[in-house]
Amino acid sequence: MLLSREEEKMWNGEYGPAVEKAIRVVVRVGESLGATQLVKVSHVHASGISYKNVGEPGRLFIKHLASMGARVSVFSTMNPAGMDLECWTQMGVPQEFAQAQREIVESLVKMGFHHVPTCTPYLIRRPSLGERLAWGESSAVGMANTYYGATTNREGGPLALMSAIVGRTYYAGLHLKENRVPRVRIVLDERVRRGLGDPGVAGALGYVVGEIVGDTVPLLEGARSMNFDSIRAYVAAAGATGNIALTVIEGITPGWRELLKMSDSMERVQVEWSDITRVFEQARAESPDLVFVGCPHATVSEMKMLLEVLEGCKRVRSDIEIWVSTSRNVYLEAKEIGLIERLARFGVIVVRDTCPMVSPVTARFRRVVTVSAKSLFYLPRTNGVETSLVPFNMLGEVLCGEGG
Ligand code: F3S
Repeated sequence: MLLSREEEKMWNGEYGPAVEKAIRVVVRVGESLGATQLVKVSHVHASGISYKNVGEPGRLFIKHLASMGARVSVFSTMNPAGMDLECWTQMGVPQEFAQAQREIVESLVKMGFHHVPTCTPYLIRRPSLGERLAWGESSAVGMANTYYGATTNREGGPLALMSAIVGRTYYAGLHLKENRVPRVRIVLDERVRRGLGDPGVAGALGYVVGEIVGDTVPLLEGARSMNFDSIRAYVAAAGATGNIALTVIEGITPGWRELLKMSDSMERVQVEWSDITRVFEQARAESPDLVFVGCPHATVSEMKMLLEVLEGCKRVRSDIEIWVSTSRNVYLEAKEIGLIERLARFGVIVVRDTCPMVSPVTARFRRVVTVSAKSLFYLPRTNGVETSLVPFNMLGEVLCGEGG
């Protein structure tokens, strides 16, 4: 690996043991991936923050880093924690878990991480075109590459931490233009195209595309009707069932024409409406005990869509809990316009900083209905929960009691 003079100083320990350790890890990983140099990054997003997921080894590792004086050198954000950091008692989080979770977050904040745990770092700081990042969290990585035209690989939690300390990542993978060229052309039938304004449908499409292409870069044709929330739902699901970190969406991804020109040949795959309904029908959680919105963390517009569904019911079923997970900055925005209060009138619980997949308290739910295809993939695996997916436009059929 060719290091700059500054990087050599880091390597030789001139900036202290934490920096030395961090650069050695980034270099070693980079070398194993064939990189011959490092690149500077301007924003790091670290996943692997929930105590439910990382446990004692993770807590001790992060605490140790903070206590040895590690500090971030670029703007750095963190993924959701295992609880709402303020309302964890109301959530029913055990005291011991809360203490450990707080230690993790406090250690990260001490290192200089932005204090808002969320999987939507792009809503805290918008990535710019061509900007180099080192992000964990597949749904955020998908947004950075696909929607904002920024550049990041999908980093593991500890590696992103190391990148935050040295402000660099290895120059390989999606940082190289040739690896951003699409190799599979996804063609959509008319009904799929028309449905893509609904994040539930777009998520189901991501679920299907992820299964088909694995970790190849796909080109999505005819998906211009996708809105911001649809793209979020699509990339989140495609990153879950596949390992897709970039989809070139015709008319949406910055620089899509140039990437298309670089592609000499592409396999063609047609996605039919029946492929989408297969995802909706693969599991049916009859009599759900939870309806969940907010994976990735909900935006204000998704909360408004949920409210519209609830206000359209003559009577809302009282035997189903309704949860929304979001970030605390979006929560504040929603609160200011009275949205949180209006949702609360229907019994909706809006939790911040966390989500059902990374929190221990959602283990009590057995049958979940969600509008998020990423949750459809993960909830049965992480929580052993029977989960089904519905599009937003059918949520009323689940939430409205007799008489609609
Ligand atoms: Fe975010 Fe949790 Fe989904 S971290 S993307 S809400 S699994």
